[in-house]
Amino acid sequence: MVTIGEESAFDPQEMFELYDSVDWAGYTSDVDKLCRGLANSHLVITARDESGTLLGLARTISDDESVCYVQDLLVNPKFHRQGIGRRLLEHLKQRYAHCRFFLLSTDHESTPEGRRNHAFYRSLGFLSYEEKQMSAFGLPRVR
Ligand SMILES: CC(C)(COP(=O)(O)OP(=O)(O)OC[C@H]1O[C@@H](n2cnc3c(N)ncnc32)[C@H](O)[C@@H]1OP(=O)(O)O)[C@@H](O)C(=O)NCCC(=O)NCCS
Repeated sequence: MVTIGEESAFDPQEMFELYDSVDWAGYTSDVDKLCRGLANSHLVITARDESGTLLGLARTISDDESVCYVQDLLVNPKFHRQGIGRRLLEHLKQRYAHCRFFLLSTDHESTPEGRRNHAFYRSLGFLSYEEKQMSAFGLPRVR
């Protein structure tokens, strides 16, 4: 059985292993910074099995009134396609149902990760920014 719950204390090794499982080196290169960022997030939810093993995590940035951004959503690849990502995101959709904007960014559809993620978000009812008559911008940082 998979349990979704809110968490506010983070074990660096456990977080390293989860973020490393999806190759997010931008976070794993400095795990203390990752944990500070998790603690500074508006909400962090995890998916764990009955033995407490961490399967996935999602976190948000929000004013809890109008806007919610999903910063990270990740599931250990050993547990992909078991509905865990869907449960994490459905939990956030309900938690922030009062917010006018529920937004996120992801890789472009021309990449393999983008194709998978677009299929995932579309299966959960999301539209692209363009389809919502919006655009997204970011400064040209090196990733
Ligand atoms: C994106 C991610 C969170 C999805 O998590 P997941 O637990 O595997 O997804 P789910 O099992 O809940 O999938 C729900 C639905 O999304 C769609 N979907 C998910 N992965 C898919 C894939 N690889 N290809 C096509 N459709 C996919 C399917 O419709 C799926 O339903 P189905 O399995 O009944 O067909 C996961 O792939 C992941 O952690 N990726 C690495 C990190 C990442 O890129 N996160 C997103 C950053 S924005």
